[in-house]
Amino acid sequence: MWRPFGLGIIILVMLLGCGGDVVYISNLPNHFPQPTIPPDNKLTRQRVELGKKMFFDKSLSLDSTIACVSCHHPDKAFTDGLALSPGIHGRKGKRNTPSIMNAALVPLINKDGGVKKLDLQALVPIEDENEMGISILHLSQRLAQDPVYVKQSREAYGMPPSAYVITRALASFVRTLYSSNSRYDHFIQGDSTALTSREKMGKALFESDRLNCTSCHGGIQFTNHAFENNGLYTSYVDLGRALITLDSADRGKFRVPSLRNVGITAPYMHDGSLANLEEVINHYEDTGISPKKGQSKKIEAFSLSSEEKESLIAFLSALTDEQFIN
Ligand code: HEC
Ligand code: HEC
Repeated sequence: MWRPFGLGIIILVMLLGCGGDVVYISNLPNHFPQPTIPPDNKLTRQRVELGKKMFFDKSLSLDSTIACVSCHHPDKAFTDGLALSPGIHGRKGKRNTPSIMNAALVPLINKDGGVKKLDLQALVPIEDENEMGISILHLSQRLAQDPVYVKQSREAYGMPPSAYVITRALASFVRTLYSSNSRYDHFIQGDSTALTSREKMGKALFESDRLNCTSCHGGIQFTNHAFENNGLYTSYVDLGRALITLDSADRGKFRVPSLRNVGITAPYMHDGSLANLEEVINHYEDTGISPKKGQSKKIEAFSLSSEEKESLIAFLSALTDEQFIN
């Protein structure tokens, strides 16, 4: 069972403040950055609780069949194990559902960076005809007829349900989904026994110049948050970053994803086309040796023995926040 507030991932400290009890995300390890909370949407207990209720509520979709949680399952680090997720009427989305753990730390939201603020992100799935398929005005009117929502909304934002309230409450909930407690985190905090010798071998490979993974997946979030073409295709159906910038040089570039919890978020890549981590490593091995048009020069030509591949997969799997999923 998933208990977001009982896990020690985040400890919520309540203080009295106006518009509700202000919540601080504390107990984050020292090596982890603090999320920036926008001044016009302070994190309060009432806002987080309202957002949480909405996140799990199917009545946020046109025909009341799909909730946010339908695609973002807590036990899969908020992904759903599918290449493409069905929205209302079983309509398939265009992209693979990403983890939303630590989304508070992402500078530009979505794989193409098309949404600039987490506080606006929820409009995308709510209005997308392949996801929840309801206009935000229609949804606001619907929630405004529910006395429980009206009460909670007034307590959280001093007004009845509206686009303002819905998007900000959902963002407030998402900001509490922090994952910083993998065995890798224990290791870098000084517990040298937290990783097995095989995982340590994988870590050395991952960080090596030979593989050069960290030139994109570096740092504590395992991403530089840049947009890169990692050589998946010669010609992309989904143009990625170019859809936003309209620059043909950005075709096939997607935001470098964090690799935290990657062991439980298969399948991989923007379209879910790679089924497991072995396929991912084989992809880099192949495309490093025979680069595709437009592919980043940071992808090195390397070849790994099967033992080295196993070690690399073992390391990537040690990035799972086991405390979170258990
Ligand atoms: C039908 C499946 C589906 C539903 C329902 C859904 N999502 Fe998503 N979510 C996705 C997909 C797919 C993406 C990636 C979109 C993209 O990159 O263009 C995504 C992206 C996100 C992101 C951005 C993550 C990042 O790192 O950029 C957040 C946050 C998020 N969703 C929260 C929500 C919330 C809140 C709801 C409910 C209002 C919701 N999602 C409903 C599939 C879904
Ligand atoms: C040039 C930058 C770059 C380099 C170097 C790179 N990656 Fe990636 N990686 C990306 C991008 C961009 C994506 C997402 C592509 C997409 O969404 O289609 C990605 C996706 C992944 C994923 C899938 C994550 C997910 O949630 O779908 C894994 C796993 C991964 N990379 C591991 C590695 C490993 C291991 C290495 C080193 C061998 C490596 N990457 C090197 C840019 C890079």
